[in-house]
Amino acid sequence: MLGAAALPEINVKTIIEPFRIKTVEPIRMTSREERAALIREAGYNPFRLKAEHVLIDLLTDSGTGAMSTRQWAGIMEGDESYAGAKSFFRFEKAVRGIFGHRYVIPTHQGRASERLLCRAVVKPGHVVPGNTHFDTTRANIEDAGAEARDLVIAEGRDPEIEHPFKGNIDLDALDACLCELGAARVPFVLITVTNNSGGGQPVSMANLAGARAVCERHRVPLLLDAARFAENAYFIKLREPGYAEKTPAAIAREMFSLSDGALMSMKKDAFGNIGGVISVNSEEWWDQIRTLLILTEGFPTYGGLAGRDLEALAIGIEEILDEDYLRYRIASTAYVGKHLAACGVPLLKPFGGHAIYLNGRKFCDHLTDEELPGWALSVALYEHVGVRACEIGNVMFGRRDADGAWQWPALDLVRLAIPRRTYTQSHMDYVIEGIDELHRQRRSIRGLRFVHRPAVLPHFTATFEMV
Ligand SMILES: Cc1ncc(COP(=O)(O)O)c(C=O)c1O
Repeated sequence: MLGAAALPEINVKTIIEPFRIKTVEPIRMTSREERAALIREAGYNPFRLKAEHVLIDLLTDSGTGAMSTRQWAGIMEGDESYAGAKSFFRFEKAVRGIFGHRYVIPTHQGRASERLLCRAVVKPGHVVPGNTHFDTTRANIEDAGAEARDLVIAEGRDPEIEHPFKGNIDLDALDACLCELGAARVPFVLITVTNNSGGGQPVSMANLAGARAVCERHRVPLLLDAARFAENAYFIKLREPGYAEKTPAAIAREMFSLSDGALMSMKKDAFGNIGGVISVNSEEWWDQIRTLLILTEGFPTYGGLAGRDLEALAIGIEEILDEDYLRYRIASTAYVGKHLAACGVPLLKPFGGHAIYLNGRKFCDHLTDEELPGWALSVALYEHVGVRACEIGNVMFGRRDADGAWQWPALDLVRLAIPRRTYTQSHMDYVIEGIDELHRQRRSIRGLRFVHRPAVLPHFTATFEMV
Protein backbone atom coordinates (compact mmCIF):
# COMPACT_ATOMS: atom_id res chain seq x y z
CA MET A 1 0.00 0.00 0.00
CA LEU A 2 1.21 3.47 -0.78
CA GLY A 3 1.51 5.60 2.31
CA ALA A 4 0.70 9.26 1.61
CA ALA A 5 3.68 10.36 3.68
CA ALA A 6 6.01 8.26 1.50
CA LEU A 7 5.01 10.07 -1.70
CA PRO A 8 7.49 12.64 -3.04
CA GLU A 9 6.38 16.28 -3.38
CA ILE A 10 4.89 16.79 -6.84
CA ASN A 11 6.08 19.91 -8.62
CA VAL A 12 4.43 19.40 -11.99
CA LYS A 13 3.00 22.66 -13.36
CA THR A 14 0.86 21.26 -16.15
CA ILE A 15 -2.84 21.39 -15.41
CA ILE A 16 -4.16 18.18 -16.91
CA GLU A 17 -7.63 17.24 -18.17
CA PRO A 18 -9.29 15.95 -14.96
CA PHE A 19 -10.88 12.98 -16.76
CA ARG A 20 -9.93 10.09 -19.01
CA ILE A 21 -11.49 9.18 -22.32
CA LYS A 22 -14.00 6.32 -22.41
CA THR A 23 -15.66 6.75 -25.80
CA VAL A 24 -14.07 8.18 -28.92
CA GLU A 25 -15.45 9.72 -32.09
CA PRO A 26 -13.20 9.74 -35.18
CA ILE A 27 -12.53 13.04 -36.95
CA ARG A 28 -11.40 13.18 -40.56
CA MET A 29 -8.81 15.34 -42.29
CA THR A 30 -9.73 16.83 -45.68
CA SER A 31 -7.32 18.23 -48.27
CA ARG A 32 -7.02 21.96 -48.80
CA GLU A 33 -8.51 21.61 -52.31
CA GLU A 34 -11.51 19.74 -50.86
CA ARG A 35 -12.04 22.42 -48.24
CA ALA A 36 -11.78 25.24 -50.78
CA ALA A 37 -14.55 23.59 -52.82
CA LEU A 38 -16.67 22.79 -49.75
CA ILE A 39 -16.64 26.33 -48.35
CA ARG A 40 -17.35 27.78 -51.81
CA GLU A 41 -20.35 25.44 -52.14
CA ALA A 42 -21.45 26.55 -48.66
CA GLY A 43 -21.63 30.17 -49.93
CA TYR A 44 -18.56 31.00 -47.84
CA ASN A 45 -20.60 30.52 -44.67
CA PRO A 46 -19.03 28.10 -42.13
CA PHE A 47 -22.49 27.53 -40.57
CA ARG A 48 -23.56 25.91 -43.85
CA LEU A 49 -20.75 23.31 -43.87
CA LYS A 50 -21.46 19.71 -43.00
CA ALA A 51 -19.94 18.95 -39.58
CA GLU A 52 -18.27 15.83 -40.98
CA HIS A 53 -16.15 18.09 -43.20
CA VAL A 54 -14.74 19.96 -40.20
CA LEU A 55 -11.60 18.68 -38.50
CA ILE A 56 -11.76 20.68 -35.25
CA ASP A 57 -15.05 22.39 -34.59
CA LEU A 58 -14.72 25.59 -32.58
CA LEU A 59 -17.90 27.14 -33.98
CA THR A 60 -19.50 26.99 -30.56
CA ASP A 61 -19.11 25.56 -27.09
CA SER A 62 -22.87 24.99 -27.08
CA GLY A 63 -24.36 21.55 -26.70
CA THR A 64 -21.21 19.88 -27.90
CA GLY A 65 -19.64 19.05 -24.54
CA ALA A 66 -19.01 15.36 -23.95
CA MET A 67 -21.15 13.96 -21.16
CA SER A 68 -19.79 12.20 -18.09
CA THR A 69 -20.33 8.58 -17.07
CA ARG A 70 -22.68 9.84 -14.34
CA GLN A 71 -24.74 11.75 -16.88
CA TRP A 72 -25.00 8.70 -19.17
CA ALA A 73 -26.07 6.61 -16.22
CA GLY A 74 -28.63 9.30 -15.36
CA ILE A 75 -30.03 9.07 -18.87
CA MET A 76 -31.11 5.49 -18.16
CA GLU A 77 -33.01 6.82 -15.14
CA GLY A 78 -34.96 9.33 -17.26
CA ASP A 79 -38.65 9.33 -16.41
CA GLU A 80 -40.56 10.03 -19.62
CA SER A 81 -43.94 10.55 -17.95
CA TYR A 82 -45.87 13.40 -19.55
CA ALA A 83 -46.77 15.04 -16.24
CA GLY A 84 -45.02 15.00 -12.88
CA ALA A 85 -41.97 12.96 -13.98
CA LYS A 86 -39.45 12.39 -11.21
CA SER A 87 -36.72 13.65 -13.56
CA PHE A 88 -38.37 17.08 -13.42
CA PHE A 89 -38.23 17.17 -9.62
CA ARG A 90 -34.55 16.19 -9.70
CA PHE A 91 -33.94 18.94 -12.26
CA GLU A 92 -35.89 21.49 -10.23
CA LYS A 93 -33.99 20.61 -7.06
CA ALA A 94 -30.58 20.86 -8.75
CA VAL A 95 -31.37 24.22 -10.38
CA ARG A 96 -32.98 25.66 -7.25
CA GLY A 97 -30.04 24.46 -5.15
CA ILE A 98 -27.77 26.80 -7.10
CA PHE A 99 -30.03 29.58 -8.43
CA GLY A 100 -32.23 29.80 -5.34
CA HIS A 101 -35.29 31.32 -7.08
CA ARG A 102 -38.80 30.17 -6.28
CA TYR A 103 -39.97 28.91 -9.69
CA VAL A 104 -38.05 26.71 -12.13
CA ILE A 105 -39.30 26.30 -15.71
CA PRO A 106 -37.49 23.92 -18.10
CA THR A 107 -37.21 24.87 -21.79
CA HIS A 108 -35.55 23.21 -24.75
CA GLN A 109 -32.72 25.77 -25.03
CA GLY A 110 -31.61 29.30 -24.18
CA ARG A 111 -33.46 31.12 -26.91
CA ALA A 112 -36.71 29.39 -25.97
CA SER A 113 -36.26 30.85 -22.49
CA GLU A 114 -35.63 34.26 -24.06
CA ARG A 115 -38.68 34.04 -26.30
CA LEU A 116 -41.01 32.96 -23.51
CA LEU A 117 -39.79 35.66 -21.15
CA CYS A 118 -39.94 38.36 -23.83
CA ARG A 119 -43.43 37.29 -24.96
CA ALA A 120 -44.59 37.39 -21.35
CA VAL A 121 -43.16 40.67 -20.09
CA VAL A 122 -41.53 42.74 -22.87
CA LYS A 123 -43.81 45.17 -24.71
CA PRO A 124 -43.33 47.54 -27.70
CA GLY A 125 -41.50 50.68 -26.57
CA HIS A 126 -39.72 48.91 -23.70
CA VAL A 127 -35.95 49.03 -23.29
CA VAL A 128 -33.93 46.13 -21.84
CA PRO A 129 -30.51 47.31 -20.62
CA GLY A 130 -27.70 44.77 -20.24
CA ASN A 131 -23.92 44.50 -20.40
CA THR A 132 -23.84 43.03 -23.94
CA HIS A 133 -26.89 41.13 -25.11
CA PHE A 134 -26.20 37.86 -26.89
CA ASP A 135 -27.41 37.79 -30.51
CA THR A 136 -30.51 35.62 -29.92
CA THR A 137 -31.37 37.61 -26.79
CA ARG A 138 -31.18 40.86 -28.73
CA ALA A 139 -33.26 39.34 -31.55
CA ASN A 140 -35.98 38.17 -29.14
CA ILE A 141 -36.13 41.55 -27.37
CA GLU A 142 -36.37 43.33 -30.72
CA ASP A 143 -38.96 40.83 -31.94
CA ALA A 144 -41.13 41.91 -29.00
CA GLY A 145 -40.88 45.51 -30.30
CA ALA A 146 -38.39 46.65 -27.65
CA GLU A 147 -34.82 47.96 -27.64
CA ALA A 148 -31.89 45.89 -26.37
CA ARG A 149 -29.43 48.44 -24.95
CA ASP A 150 -25.79 47.43 -24.34
CA LEU A 151 -24.18 49.27 -21.42
CA VAL A 152 -20.92 47.38 -20.90
CA ILE A 153 -18.08 49.41 -19.30
CA ALA A 154 -15.82 51.33 -21.73
CA GLU A 155 -12.95 48.87 -21.11
CA GLY A 156 -15.21 46.08 -22.38
CA ARG A 157 -15.30 47.66 -25.81
CA ASP A 158 -11.51 47.90 -26.17
CA PRO A 159 -9.95 44.58 -27.22
CA GLU A 160 -6.45 45.55 -26.02
CA ILE A 161 -7.11 46.78 -22.47
CA GLU A 162 -6.39 44.33 -19.64
CA HIS A 163 -9.13 44.51 -17.01
CA PRO A 164 -10.19 41.67 -14.69
CA PHE A 165 -13.93 42.16 -15.21
CA LYS A 166 -14.50 43.48 -18.70
CA GLY A 167 -18.03 42.07 -18.66
CA ASN A 168 -19.14 44.59 -16.00
CA ILE A 169 -22.12 46.80 -16.72
CA ASP A 170 -21.53 50.56 -16.54
CA LEU A 171 -23.41 51.37 -13.32
CA ASP A 172 -23.63 55.13 -14.00
CA ALA A 173 -25.00 54.49 -17.48
CA LEU A 174 -27.48 51.99 -16.04
CA ASP A 175 -28.62 54.48 -13.42
CA ALA A 176 -28.97 57.22 -16.06
CA CYS A 177 -30.93 54.86 -18.30
CA LEU A 178 -33.34 53.94 -15.50
CA CYS A 179 -33.69 57.60 -14.45
CA GLU A 180 -34.54 58.51 -18.04
CA LEU A 181 -37.01 55.69 -18.70
CA GLY A 182 -38.34 54.63 -15.30
CA ALA A 183 -39.69 51.23 -14.31
CA ALA A 184 -42.65 51.59 -16.66
CA ARG A 185 -40.43 51.25 -19.73
CA VAL A 186 -37.83 48.83 -18.39
CA PRO A 187 -39.29 45.36 -17.69
CA PHE A 188 -35.93 44.06 -16.39
CA VAL A 189 -32.16 44.49 -16.60
CA LEU A 190 -30.28 41.47 -18.00
CA ILE A 191 -26.62 40.84 -17.17
CA THR A 192 -24.89 38.08 -19.13
CA VAL A 193 -22.33 36.04 -17.16
CA THR A 194 -19.80 35.62 -18.64
CA ASN A 195 -20.32 38.25 -21.32
CA ASN A 196 -20.18 36.09 -24.45
CA SER A 197 -20.56 38.76 -27.13
CA GLY A 198 -18.03 40.94 -25.32
CA GLY A 199 -15.36 38.22 -25.39
CA GLY A 200 -16.43 35.76 -22.67
CA GLN A 201 -15.42 38.31 -20.04
CA PRO A 202 -16.56 37.92 -16.42
CA VAL A 203 -18.72 40.21 -14.29
CA SER A 204 -17.52 40.88 -10.74
CA MET A 205 -19.61 40.28 -7.63
CA ALA A 206 -19.17 43.96 -6.73
CA ASN A 207 -20.64 44.94 -10.09
CA LEU A 208 -23.58 42.57 -9.66
CA ALA A 209 -24.18 44.01 -6.20
CA GLY A 210 -23.94 47.54 -7.65
CA ALA A 211 -26.43 46.67 -10.39
CA ARG A 212 -28.73 45.14 -7.77
CA ALA A 213 -28.66 48.40 -5.77
CA VAL A 214 -29.42 50.50 -8.87
CA CYS A 215 -32.26 48.16 -9.87
CA GLU A 216 -33.72 48.17 -6.36
CA ARG A 217 -33.66 51.96 -6.27
CA HIS A 218 -35.65 52.06 -9.50
CA ARG A 219 -37.81 49.02 -8.66
CA VAL A 220 -36.71 47.15 -11.76
CA PRO A 221 -35.98 43.40 -11.59
CA LEU A 222 -32.42 42.22 -12.23
CA LEU A 223 -32.01 39.00 -14.23
CA LEU A 224 -28.93 37.01 -15.17
CA ASP A 225 -28.27 35.30 -18.49
CA ALA A 226 -26.49 32.46 -16.74
CA ALA A 227 -25.25 30.38 -19.71
CA ARG A 228 -21.70 30.40 -18.27
CA PHE A 229 -22.35 31.11 -14.60
CA ALA A 230 -19.78 28.57 -13.33
CA GLU A 231 -16.94 30.03 -15.40
CA ASN A 232 -17.95 33.48 -14.11
CA ALA A 233 -17.90 32.18 -10.53
CA TYR A 234 -14.41 30.75 -11.02
CA PHE A 235 -13.10 34.05 -12.44
CA ILE A 236 -14.46 35.79 -9.33
CA LYS A 237 -12.58 33.27 -7.20
CA LEU A 238 -9.36 33.94 -9.12
CA ARG A 239 -9.62 37.69 -9.48
CA GLU A 240 -11.87 39.34 -6.90
CA PRO A 241 -10.50 40.09 -3.41
CA GLY A 242 -12.21 38.05 -0.69
CA TYR A 243 -13.25 35.10 -2.83
CA ALA A 244 -10.08 32.99 -3.10
CA GLU A 245 -11.13 30.68 -0.26
CA LYS A 246 -14.76 30.25 -1.37
CA THR A 247 -16.00 27.34 -3.46
CA PRO A 248 -17.35 28.00 -6.97
CA ALA A 249 -20.76 26.73 -5.75
CA ALA A 250 -20.84 29.26 -2.88
CA ILE A 251 -19.80 32.05 -5.24
CA ALA A 252 -22.45 31.03 -7.79
CA ARG A 253 -25.14 31.04 -5.08
CA GLU A 254 -24.06 34.52 -4.02
CA MET A 255 -24.26 35.73 -7.64
CA PHE A 256 -27.80 34.41 -8.05
CA SER A 257 -28.86 35.76 -4.65
CA LEU A 258 -28.41 39.25 -6.13
CA SER A 259 -30.89 38.52 -8.90
CA ASP A 260 -34.67 38.22 -9.21
CA GLY A 261 -34.42 35.56 -11.85
CA ALA A 262 -32.27 33.97 -14.52
CA LEU A 263 -32.38 32.59 -18.04
CA MET A 264 -29.97 29.90 -19.06
CA SER A 265 -28.92 27.95 -22.09
CA MET A 266 -28.06 24.69 -20.33
CA LYS A 267 -26.06 23.61 -23.40
CA LYS A 268 -23.13 25.46 -21.80
CA ASP A 269 -22.53 25.37 -18.04
CA ALA A 270 -24.86 22.43 -17.42
CA PHE A 271 -22.96 20.07 -19.76
CA GLY A 272 -26.13 19.46 -21.77
CA ASN A 273 -26.53 18.39 -25.37
CA ILE A 274 -29.81 20.33 -25.23
CA GLY A 275 -31.78 22.24 -22.60
CA GLY A 276 -32.57 25.56 -21.01
CA VAL A 277 -34.28 27.03 -18.00
CA ILE A 278 -36.11 30.09 -16.70
CA SER A 279 -35.88 30.61 -12.96
CA VAL A 280 -37.85 33.44 -11.33
CA ASN A 281 -39.12 34.69 -8.00
CA SER A 282 -42.21 36.43 -9.34
CA GLU A 283 -45.35 34.30 -9.19
CA GLU A 284 -47.02 36.56 -11.75
CA TRP A 285 -44.21 36.04 -14.28
CA TRP A 286 -44.13 32.30 -13.57
CA ASP A 287 -47.83 32.06 -14.30
CA GLN A 288 -47.58 34.04 -17.56
CA ILE A 289 -44.51 32.12 -18.76
CA ARG A 290 -46.07 28.76 -17.90
CA THR A 291 -49.14 29.54 -20.01
CA LEU A 292 -46.94 30.39 -23.00
CA LEU A 293 -44.75 27.34 -22.33
CA ILE A 294 -47.72 25.04 -22.72
CA LEU A 295 -48.50 26.61 -26.11
CA THR A 296 -45.12 25.93 -27.68
CA GLU A 297 -42.81 23.85 -25.46
CA GLY A 298 -44.92 21.30 -23.62
CA PHE A 299 -46.19 20.54 -20.15
CA PRO A 300 -44.46 22.55 -17.37
CA THR A 301 -42.70 19.47 -15.95
CA TYR A 302 -40.80 18.75 -19.17
CA GLY A 303 -40.80 22.03 -21.16
CA GLY A 304 -39.79 20.55 -24.52
CA LEU A 305 -37.19 18.17 -23.08
CA ALA A 306 -37.13 14.41 -22.69
CA GLY A 307 -36.98 13.09 -19.11
CA ARG A 308 -33.50 11.77 -19.84
CA ASP A 309 -32.35 15.29 -20.80
CA LEU A 310 -33.64 16.64 -17.49
CA GLU A 311 -31.61 13.96 -15.68
CA ALA A 312 -28.41 14.74 -17.61
CA LEU A 313 -28.85 18.47 -16.91
CA ALA A 314 -29.54 17.96 -13.20
CA ILE A 315 -26.24 16.08 -12.94
CA GLY A 316 -24.36 18.40 -15.30
CA ILE A 317 -25.24 21.62 -13.48
CA GLU A 318 -23.69 20.19 -10.31
CA GLU A 319 -20.64 18.65 -12.05
CA ILE A 320 -19.75 21.96 -13.69
CA LEU A 321 -18.99 23.49 -10.28
CA ASP A 322 -16.21 20.98 -9.61
CA GLU A 323 -13.12 23.01 -8.85
CA ASP A 324 -10.68 20.69 -10.66
CA TYR A 325 -12.79 20.96 -13.79
CA LEU A 326 -13.05 24.76 -13.62
CA ARG A 327 -9.31 25.14 -12.96
CA TYR A 328 -8.58 23.00 -16.03
CA ARG A 329 -11.25 24.78 -18.11
CA ILE A 330 -9.96 28.30 -17.50
CA ALA A 331 -6.28 27.22 -17.75
CA SER A 332 -6.75 25.24 -20.98
CA THR A 333 -8.55 28.13 -22.67
CA ALA A 334 -5.80 30.51 -21.55
CA TYR A 335 -3.21 28.02 -22.93
CA VAL A 336 -4.54 28.63 -26.45
CA GLY A 337 -4.57 32.39 -25.91
CA LYS A 338 -1.09 32.51 -24.41
CA HIS A 339 0.49 30.59 -27.29
CA LEU A 340 -1.32 32.56 -29.98
CA ALA A 341 -0.32 35.83 -28.31
CA ALA A 342 3.31 34.66 -28.23
CA CYS A 343 3.09 34.19 -32.02
CA GLY A 344 1.94 37.82 -32.36
CA VAL A 345 -1.65 36.95 -33.29
CA PRO A 346 -3.95 39.88 -32.34
CA LEU A 347 -6.40 38.73 -29.66
CA LEU A 348 -8.97 40.10 -27.30
CA LYS A 349 -7.46 40.38 -23.83
CA PRO A 350 -7.65 39.13 -21.17
CA PHE A 351 -8.60 35.64 -22.33
CA GLY A 352 -12.22 34.62 -21.87
CA GLY A 353 -13.50 31.52 -20.11
CA HIS A 354 -14.96 29.49 -22.96
CA ALA A 355 -13.23 30.96 -25.97
CA ILE A 356 -10.34 32.88 -27.43
CA TYR A 357 -11.34 35.76 -29.69
CA LEU A 358 -9.17 36.79 -32.64
CA ASN A 359 -9.27 40.47 -33.53
CA GLY A 360 -10.55 40.24 -37.11
CA ARG A 361 -9.90 43.87 -38.05
CA LYS A 362 -6.30 43.71 -36.86
CA PHE A 363 -5.57 40.22 -38.24
CA CYS A 364 -6.87 41.34 -41.67
CA ASP A 365 -5.79 44.97 -41.53
CA HIS A 366 -5.59 45.01 -45.34
CA LEU A 367 -9.42 44.63 -45.53
CA THR A 368 -12.02 47.35 -45.02
CA ASP A 369 -15.09 46.85 -42.80
CA GLU A 370 -17.19 46.40 -45.96
CA GLU A 371 -14.94 43.46 -46.88
CA LEU A 372 -15.95 41.75 -43.61
CA PRO A 373 -12.48 41.03 -42.18
CA GLY A 374 -13.58 38.77 -39.30
CA TRP A 375 -15.82 36.69 -41.52
CA ALA A 376 -13.09 36.46 -44.19
CA LEU A 377 -10.70 35.24 -41.49
CA SER A 378 -13.14 32.52 -40.35
CA VAL A 379 -13.47 31.32 -43.96
CA ALA A 380 -9.67 31.33 -44.45
CA LEU A 381 -9.20 29.42 -41.21
CA TYR A 382 -11.44 26.62 -42.42
CA GLU A 383 -9.83 26.54 -45.84
CA HIS A 384 -6.33 26.60 -44.41
CA VAL A 385 -6.51 24.03 -41.60
CA GLY A 386 -10.07 22.66 -41.37
CA VAL A 387 -10.89 24.55 -38.17
CA ARG A 388 -14.37 26.06 -37.94
CA ALA A 389 -14.81 29.26 -35.91
CA CYS A 390 -17.58 31.83 -35.53
CA GLU A 391 -17.45 35.51 -36.45
CA ILE A 392 -18.94 37.79 -33.81
CA GLY A 393 -18.65 41.09 -35.57
CA ASN A 394 -19.57 42.86 -38.79
CA VAL A 395 -21.80 40.11 -40.20
CA MET A 396 -23.52 39.29 -36.92
CA PHE A 397 -24.08 42.86 -35.73
CA GLY A 398 -23.55 45.21 -38.74
CA ARG A 399 -26.64 47.29 -39.54
CA ARG A 400 -27.63 49.76 -42.21
CA ASP A 401 -28.91 53.10 -40.91
CA ALA A 402 -31.91 54.98 -42.37
CA ASP A 403 -29.69 56.39 -45.19
CA GLY A 404 -28.42 52.91 -46.12
CA ALA A 405 -24.92 53.50 -44.67
CA TRP A 406 -23.38 50.59 -42.74
CA GLN A 407 -22.94 50.90 -38.96
CA TRP A 408 -20.23 48.49 -37.81
CA PRO A 409 -19.97 47.11 -34.27
CA ALA A 410 -17.14 48.20 -31.97
CA LEU A 411 -15.47 44.77 -32.21
CA ASP A 412 -15.10 42.48 -35.23
CA LEU A 413 -14.06 39.23 -33.57
CA VAL A 414 -13.59 35.61 -34.56
CA ARG A 415 -14.45 33.32 -31.67
CA LEU A 416 -12.61 30.06 -31.16
CA ALA A 417 -15.12 28.50 -28.77
CA ILE A 418 -13.75 25.48 -26.97
CA PRO A 419 -16.29 22.69 -26.43
CA ARG A 420 -16.25 21.33 -22.88
CA ARG A 421 -14.29 18.11 -22.21
CA THR A 422 -14.07 17.38 -25.95
CA TYR A 423 -10.62 18.16 -27.38
CA THR A 424 -7.17 17.46 -25.99
CA GLN A 425 -4.10 19.67 -25.74
CA SER A 426 -2.66 18.28 -28.99
CA HIS A 427 -5.82 19.33 -30.84
CA MET A 428 -5.25 22.81 -29.46
CA ASP A 429 -1.55 22.72 -30.46
CA TYR A 430 -2.69 21.99 -34.01
CA VAL A 431 -5.11 24.96 -33.90
CA ILE A 432 -2.33 27.24 -32.58
CA GLU A 433 0.12 26.15 -35.32
CA GLY A 434 -2.52 26.55 -38.03
CA ILE A 435 -3.48 30.07 -36.93
CA ASP A 436 0.16 31.08 -36.57
CA GLU A 437 0.83 29.94 -40.15
CA LEU A 438 -2.26 31.71 -41.46
CA HIS A 439 -1.26 34.87 -39.60
CA ARG A 440 2.10 34.87 -41.41
CA GLN A 441 0.29 34.84 -44.75
CA ARG A 442 -2.65 37.01 -43.64
CA ARG A 443 -2.37 39.48 -46.52
CA SER A 444 -3.45 36.66 -48.86
CA ILE A 445 -6.87 36.49 -47.12
CA ARG A 446 -9.49 37.84 -49.52
CA GLY A 447 -12.44 39.99 -48.49
CA LEU A 448 -16.06 38.96 -48.94
CA ARG A 449 -19.38 40.64 -49.68
CA PHE A 450 -22.95 39.54 -49.11
CA VAL A 451 -24.83 37.69 -51.83
CA HIS A 452 -27.85 37.06 -49.58
CA ARG A 453 -28.37 38.75 -46.20
CA PRO A 454 -31.43 37.62 -44.20
CA ALA A 455 -33.00 40.41 -42.12
CA VAL A 456 -32.81 38.55 -38.77
CA LEU A 457 -29.70 36.78 -37.39
CA PRO A 458 -27.99 36.98 -40.82
CA HIS A 459 -24.87 34.99 -39.87
CA PHE A 460 -26.68 31.66 -39.64
CA THR A 461 -27.81 31.46 -43.25
CA ALA A 462 -26.27 34.35 -45.26
CA THR A 463 -24.24 33.61 -48.39
CA PHE A 464 -21.18 35.50 -49.65
CA GLU A 465 -18.82 35.88 -52.59
CA MET A 466 -15.16 36.83 -52.80
CA VAL A 467 -14.52 40.52 -53.44
C1 LIG B 1 -24.96 34.16 -23.41
C2 LIG B 1 -25.90 33.35 -24.23
N1 LIG B 1 -27.22 33.54 -24.10
C3 LIG B 1 -28.11 32.82 -24.81
C4 LIG B 1 -27.69 31.87 -25.72
C5 LIG B 1 -28.72 31.11 -26.54
O1 LIG B 1 -28.78 29.79 -26.15
P1 LIG B 1 -29.21 28.59 -27.11
O2 LIG B 1 -28.15 28.46 -28.16
O3 LIG B 1 -29.30 27.41 -26.21
O4 LIG B 1 -30.52 28.94 -27.70
C6 LIG B 1 -26.33 31.64 -25.89
C7 LIG B 1 -25.86 30.64 -26.88
O5 LIG B 1 -24.73 30.60 -27.30
C8 LIG B 1 -25.41 32.41 -25.13
O6 LIG B 1 -24.07 32.24 -25.25
